[in-house]
Amino acid sequence: MIEKDSTIVSTTYRYLEKTLDKPIDIPRLWNEYSWFLNDYGTVTDDPSIIDFNAICLNRKPGDTKSITGGNVRGKYWTYPTDRPIEEERLPYVDEESYTEICPEFLGTYTEEIINALASRWKIGRARFLMKPPRSCLSWHRDPERRIHIPVKTNLGCRMVIEDEAFHMPADGTIYITDNRVYHNFFNGGEENRIHLVVTLLEP
Ligand SMILES: [Fe+2]
Repeated sequence: MIEKDSTIVSTTYRYLEKTLDKPIDIPRLWNEYSWFLNDYGTVTDDPSIIDFNAICLNRKPGDTKSITGGNVRGKYWTYPTDRPIEEERLPYVDEESYTEICPEFLGTYTEEIINALASRWKIGRARFLMKPPRSCLSWHRDPERRIHIPVKTNLGCRMVIEDEAFHMPADGTIYITDNRVYHNFFNGGEENRIHLVVTLLEP
């Protein structure tokens, strides 16, 4: 699945890389996501905003509060108005302390993937992130890079980082995106988009 010495290769995009690992079994992951969604539902820090819906997969050991409130989305910076003033939103998340798989996901293929990622990279939070149709994020930057495994997507989905836009197919590929610069994601299709998103704590 994820090799300890897996090779990361550049793409034609400046802020997108991918690995040459054996592909993730996407039908199996999709099946598990559907089961988790049915049994546990999604969480958000702000129910008035539809663009962000998460299933938090790991947490601080024994700390159920670490996957609630602002910890679900995490700290980011944005330009909310026409003024060139950057604003910081939500509190800092101590990503390194997210070392425990939430008990309901123990023994699953999803756990296997997270453990494999953790054996290859230093990682933080792991979440399934769902974006409903015709939704987009704020134009923002995050403190770290992200590992993306698209689980369900469509051709109207694009990540935009600075002045580059790209589509990440749900073909089992593990992608790395540089979220430390300004970016966005939009789902211009008519079905939900689901990615497994993991914080990458390496430069
Ligand atoms: Fe982001």
